[in-house]
Formats: sequence, C-alpha cells, structure tokens
Amino acid sequence: MYLVQKLLPQLPLQIIWSCAILIIFQQNDSAVSLPNNETVPAVIVFGDSIVDPGNNNYITTLVKCNFLPYGSDFAGGDHPTGRFSNGLIPSDIIAAKFGVKKILPAYLDPNLTPEDLLSGVSFASGGAGYDPLTSTLASVIPLSSQLEMFKEYKNKIKEAVGGSRAANIISKSIYIVCIGSDDIANTYVQTPFRRAQYDIPSYTDLMAGQAISFLKKLYGVGARRVGVFGLTALGCVPSQRTVDGGIRRACANSSNQAASLFNSKLSSQMNALNREFPDARLVYLDSYNPLLDMIHNPSLYGFEETEKGCCGTGNIEVSILCNPYTLEMCANASNYIFWDSYHPTEKAYYVLSSLVLDDKIKDFF
Ligand SMILES: *[C@@H]1O[C@H](CO)[C@@H](O)[C@H](O)[C@H]1NC(C)=O
Ligand SMILES: *[C@@H]1O[C@H](CO)[C@@H](O)[C@H](O)[C@H]1NC(C)=O
Ligand SMILES: *[C@@H]1O[C@H](CO)[C@@H](O)[C@H](O)[C@H]1NC(C)=O
Repeated sequence: MYLVQKLLPQLPLQIIWSCAILIIFQQNDSAVSLPNNETVPAVIVFGDSIVDPGNNNYITTLVKCNFLPYGSDFAGGDHPTGRFSNGLIPSDIIAAKFGVKKILPAYLDPNLTPEDLLSGVSFASGGAGYDPLTSTLASVIPLSSQLEMFKEYKNKIKEAVGGSRAANIISKSIYIVCIGSDDIANTYVQTPFRRAQYDIPSYTDLMAGQAISFLKKLYGVGARRVGVFGLTALGCVPSQRTVDGGIRRACANSSNQAASLFNSKLSSQMNALNREFPDARLVYLDSYNPLLDMIHNPSLYGFEETEKGCCGTGNIEVSILCNPYTLEMCANASNYIFWDSYHPTEKAYYVLSSLVLDDKIKDFF
C-alpha cells in the first residue's frame, strides 16, 4: 500500500482500503483440512528472519525492519511490524494453514494477551543461526535462548489454563523450525571466522550437529509434531547473486552446494531421530527445490522478476539498507519473488509455503 500511495497520491483512501481488504479476503481462505478431524491448538516457531514477526524490535541489534517500506502491504497497508517482507511471512501463513490463526505474533510483543499465547507465538529472531557464532555476530536471540523463552512460555500457559490443558497444548501443537541460511550466507561467506577452521563439509557437519541437538532438546521439553525447514537455494537470492554470482549475477553455486549438502545431512539425521523417538513426528520440509522451481518457471506462479528485490536496486538492500529513504521501489511487489535482496515477498511466501507444506501436512499426525 505504501507503494500505491506513493505512486497514486490522488487516489481516494477508500479505494486503496477496499483493494487491500479484497486482497486480504482472498488470501485468508487458506486453512487445509487435517487428517482424522485433528485440530491443532497452537503453532510455535523457532528460527530466523524468515519467521520472525518482530522479536528483534525489542532487542538491541541492527538486524531490524520495523520501518517502511517493510510491512507496506501488511493488514491493509503501511504496518511495519518487524516482519522481513511487505506483508505476512511463513510463520503466519503456516498458522493459518493449520487453522489456528491468521497472524502469529512475536513472543516479545509486550501487548500479548493470554489467549494470544495459547494459540502460539514465534520465538524467532532475524539473523540467528544454528551456529551460535551467527547469532553473536548479529547480536540477536540465539536458538538456545529461544528455547529458554519457550520454557518460560510453558510456565505462562500452565498458569493461565492449568497443567493438564497446558500439557495437551504442548504435545498437540505444531512446532516449526526455520533457521540456518544466515550461517552460510553471513557467517561462512562474509566473515573469515569459520572459514579459517572449517571447509564446507565440516561446517555443514557443525550446523547439522547443532540442529539435531536442538531437536532433541525440543523433544525433551515436550514437542512431538515438529516441521524443520531445510535451507532454500540460497545462492539464488539477489544478494548472493550480487556477491558471488559474477558479472551476470548467476546463482552462487558455492552457497547452493553448501545448502544442499546441509539439507542432505539434516534430513538423514532427522530420519534417525524419528526412529529414536517413535512417538514424535519430525517432518523435513524441503524449500530448496520449490524456490528453484519458482525462479526457473516464474510465469507458472504469476511472477515476472526473479533476480532482483523490490526494494531499491534490488541487488543489495536488506534490513536497514531498505528504509523509508529508499527512493526506488518496484511498481508492484506481487510480480516479484523477492521483496529485498534476501527475503521473498508475501506472495512468494504464499506460493512457497504451499509448495513446501501442503503435501507434508499428513506427516505431522
Ligand atoms: C470427522 O467428523 C465428522 C463430523 O463430525 C464425522 O462424520 C467423521 O466421521 C469424522 N471423521 C473421522 C475420521 O473421525
Ligand atoms: C554455476 O554452475 C553452472 C553449471 O555448473 C555454470 O554454468 C555457472 O556459470 C556457475 N555459476 C557461477 C556463478 O559460477
Ligand atoms: C499487481 O500485480 C498483481 C498480479 O500481477 C495484480 O493482480 C494486481 O492488480 C497488481 N496491483 C496493482 C496495484 O497494479
């Protein structure tokens, strides 16, 4: 909406609003039917900027986006919430898919009500990684602290509804883990610290080791239905094309290879964990091939631009570099896969979430 208002200042606000409401109306009809008439009490999310609805607004870090043009299409327009996109992000879209709620809030939001807590929150923090160094370098909430916050959350819902209902919520909820791309794109590619000690095979071992250790701890605190996103085709995001894709900004092969190597380690180790914990459903969620398919066949999904973000030049801007003073914006974010040089648009997140999740829903039950 920010864009529309900037481009068409003479358009009556009413028309802008009704267009926004229409868009929201069309996209909300997104719950899928769950097997055996299951209902999911809550969706609980851990991760990085792909699923951070604004936790970073409440901590001291540069990894923020609670300013326009972020949120320019959120809830009718011009609501920068700290989500790294123009609108909703996968944590919201997934909560809606499981029929829980349309907007999944940030745990650190001081305005949360007990009801908000009961149907789930996100503990994710933009810039975090499986590698603890990644979160330290970005001054954001590491995965270990996200888990501590979850323990505090458990106590809060126990106080609100009592032990047995709280236990039911904890065991029946859907847990989503989406993290790890910053380990490769930021820590490994852009700083020397890890490259000095690790090659890609050993660094992806470190990441997978951290991932599995986190999943064991999550099982230990009661999670049973857990979806874990693999890394996407990282080398094809605009910033990686710019940094490492040569003069023609091709997909950066090294990041893509690192991402797929990590994914194969993660998914095979998750299979082993499923055998170790037969009462759990750990579901590996492939986002690598779906994003590549969207980039290779944009028109199939209604996209026109696959190599640049909507914000600014689209080649480098992300977080504080994409801000209210960014002059150049694309005319219509719906035609773009990427909103900034790193994060997809709301529309791309809708497409991606369906491609990643719809066939996997049954595996959670
Ligand atoms: C689901 O609920 C409907 C309506 O209550 C019922 O007719 C149906 O048998 C249920 N299905 C299962 C698999 O429990
Ligand atoms: C990546 O690999 C493909 C095929 O192996 C090659 O055509 C392309 O030029 C490579 N891209 C870069 C940026 O090196
Ligand atoms: C933006 O593009 C989408 C899809 O191509 C289209 O449905 C929509 O009307 C466009 N919005 C504006 C404001 O042009």
